[in-house]
Amino acid sequence: MNSKKHIAIFASGNGSNAEKLMQYFQHHPSIKIELVICNNPNALVLEKAKTKQVESILISKAELKTSDKLFPVLEQHQINFIVLAGFLLQIPSWLTQKYQHHIINIHPSLLPKFGGKGMFGRFVHEAVIAAHETESGITIHFVNEKYDDGEIIFQGNCKVDKNETIESLANKIQQLEHLYLPKIIEQIIV
Ligand code: GAR
Repeated sequence: MNSKKHIAIFASGNGSNAEKLMQYFQHHPSIKIELVICNNPNALVLEKAKTKQVESILISKAELKTSDKLFPVLEQHQINFIVLAGFLLQIPSWLTQKYQHHIINIHPSLLPKFGGKGMFGRFVHEAVIAAHETESGITIHFVNEKYDDGEIIFQGNCKVDKNETIESLANKIQQLEHLYLPKIIEQIIV
């Protein structure tokens, strides 16, 4: 009998966090990255899943709105936990209700600052620099029906230097994300 907890990663783009998670949990005794769910047929994350031999499923924005397509897939793969790692569609309430306190998101700012609709990826770093913030960071939080709004699990900080660029800040944030996301997931699940 396989008693590992099964994670589905939801991602829309590059998938660097998804890749780190697939690496980190590859030989884990109690956690398995079982599936990648993606809404973008051109996303690099699909290649990364293939390389790591993790099954991926494409889902459209319309399909995500009802449980018809996705829920049977999640059941079939016995998904216990969902990680949003750069997933840009809003999570519908049917899914937050079925997975209460079992969906987490990673966001590239210190929420509640610089969160909400339209705040993703480099737009976040651009806004942080434009606001002359002296620190930024990452937030890992439970997901509810609103963007970037659920209970905060973990925050990690970095300095925003005077001559910081979007790219240099993105780099710092990515390092924090890759360092902490796998460990926090492990702490929550095990
Ligand atoms: C990450 O920085 C993640 O925090 C962000 O998208 C990036 C995905 O990078 N998520 C959001 O902005 C959610 N609002 P990745 O595809 O390389 O993992």
